[in-house]
Amino acid sequence: MPTESNADARRVRLVRGGPMLIEGPVELQLPDGSTVCSDRFVVAVCACRRSRRYPFCDTSHRRKARKEV
Ligand code: FES
Repeated sequence: MPTESNADARRVRLVRGGPMLIEGPVELQLPDGSTVCSDRFVVAVCACRRSRRYPFCDTSHRRKARKEV
């Protein structure tokens, strides 16, 4: 497993319970083969699959699940 830092490597930051933050611009390839692009400085990619804007995070991961009574 590589552990050394590479200044040229693109950085991806994993947020616990939230999105993956990727230094943009990015082109994402979806499971169906289509692609979506973002030229934002940092792109938040949904890792919870709850986003209405999937594959981009719309902060839906912040919503708490209802408690079962
Ligand atoms: S990670 Fe934010 S909506 Fe999925």
